[in-house]
Amino acid sequence: MQTIVFANHKGGTGKTTSCLNVAYTLQERGHSVLLLDCDRQTNLTQSFTVDPGSTGHLGSVLLGQASLSDVVLEVGEGLYLVPSSPDIAEAEERISQKPGAEFALKELLDDVEAIDYCLIDTPGGLGKLTYAALTAANAVFIPAQPEYYGIEGLVGLLDVCHQVQKRLNRELVIGGLFFTQYNRNDRRRAQKDMVNLLETHPLFGPLVMQTTIRPNVSLVEAQIEKASIHTWAPVSAGAQDYQNLTTEILARL
Ligand SMILES: Nc1ncnc2c1ncn2[C@@H]1O[C@H](COP(=O)(O)OP(=O)(O)OP(=O)(O)O)[C@@H](O)[C@H]1O
Ligand SMILES: [Mg+2]
Repeated sequence: MQTIVFANHKGGTGKTTSCLNVAYTLQERGHSVLLLDCDRQTNLTQSFTVDPGSTGHLGSVLLGQASLSDVVLEVGEGLYLVPSSPDIAEAEERISQKPGAEFALKELLDDVEAIDYCLIDTPGGLGKLTYAALTAANAVFIPAQPEYYGIEGLVGLLDVCHQVQKRLNRELVIGGLFFTQYNRNDRRRAQKDMVNLLETHPLFGPLVMQTTIRPNVSLVEAQIEKASIHTWAPVSAGAQDYQNLTTEILARL
């Protein structure tokens, strides 16, 4: 199983949207996918018709109150979800007080069999669960919106990834950074300048991916309808962009 994390300390950059749509794209290509929702906002969980209250959630597993197989939900053919809950905050807090908290997700995922890809959605901010996700992962991908960024924030995020590589997970590949809600044909100066700055930056240049995710309302509608973008709007810009992103992610693993 290859484990991929979508992370950015900034909120609202497209982590959940990317996790969801890369999962649907992998599913469409015949792969089995396990989704892990690590965010107390539960946006990924709410993208499916599920009742996580009845079976428990990732926090229950982290606290030893349930096993992963107790809480995993089949949300489509070959598509599985470990749901989150607002209560995950308490689990995060409690595991943080124990030694080796960073390995909590890795230990859970080591036991998973017969799944091709595990995709982990992380919250904004860099809490213990994000460190645990980076520790469990083969690769991290960073969705970023060009207009929102001070480059210092991204330098900080990359520094965290390097520390995880050094201390917790030597295998971690910093897979790449891709721009979301951005169109390369967009003429807006501020966005273009930011993209140029990152593409020519010594640290970030090699990480910037070819694919950008354009603003596309079909992605929002499909999520609300709890449907795959590839059945809801198969020829939309969103469906195309996530096909391209998935291809590029697999090539960078
Ligand atoms: N390509 C897109 N086109 C239009 N809307 C988008 C696109 N990508 C994301 N959005 C919308 O932008 C908002 C933020 O996206 P998303 O929830 O994926 O970000 P996030 O990084 O997971 O946020 P958070 O840090 O709060 O978890 C959502 O309302 C989502 O529907
Ligand atoms: Mg999110």
